Amino acid sequence: MSIDSKKGSIFIRNIEESDARELYDFLNNLDEKTKGFFHPHPFDLKTIMDICKSKKDHYFVMFSKNKLIGYSFLRLFGYKIPSFGIVIRKGLTGKGYGTILTKGTIEKARKLGYKKVLLKTYKENISAQKVYEKLGFKIIGETEHKKQYKMEIIL
Ligand SMILES: CC(C)(COP(=O)(O)OP(=O)(O)OC[C@H]1O[C@@H](n2cnc3c(N)ncnc32)[C@H](O)[C@@H]1OP(=O)(O)O)[C@@H](O)C(=O)NCCC(=O)NCCS
Repeated sequence: MSIDSKKGSIFIRNIEESDARELYDFLNNLDEKTKGFFHPHPFDLKTIMDICKSKKDHYFVMFSKNKLIGYSFLRLFGYKIPSFGIVIRKGLTGKGYGTILTKGTIEKARKLGYKKVLLKTYKENISAQKVYEKLGFKIIGETEHKKQYKMEIIL
């Protein structure tokens, strides 16, 4: 999926095995605050290589000028409703890329035939909630430890 934005041409596609090294560097370069908000899986090379080969879940990468600037996923955890996650490259948040990648991933979910997408987000993660609410996610509850909202979007 190619998107022409004010920031130039941006490209979102399914992850491939050849992305493993770049994704490894991208994830391991995130700052500590981001790692506190985004810890869906370990960031070691073996896990990342498995992700790049995954047939069960859907992982996406977003590029601008041949640079990986965003990573998102729809994971099933053995269920039928996918869970969404996203992270934008360090230093590039707050510039609209998160909105573009969230929108693009939701569009992929729709095309894959899913009727609903779920996510969890820490209550203090204001910019994430801003993006999600803008695109139609609604708060439907909170996690047991009460630190995160559960949100969903009906497609
Ligand atoms: C959450 C994340 C994906 C959002 O991506 P992004 O590129 O920063 O998002 P955007 O620039 O598209 O939008 C951010 C929005 O939050 C708003 N925002 C940012 N900080 C804010 C604050 N402190 N208070 C209110 N609004 C705020 C921005 O104004 C913008 O809203 P707008 O488009 O209406 O102006 C990104 O910040 C990120 O990678 N964070 C770390 C990982 C993470 O938290 N992942 C999500 C886990 S649930």
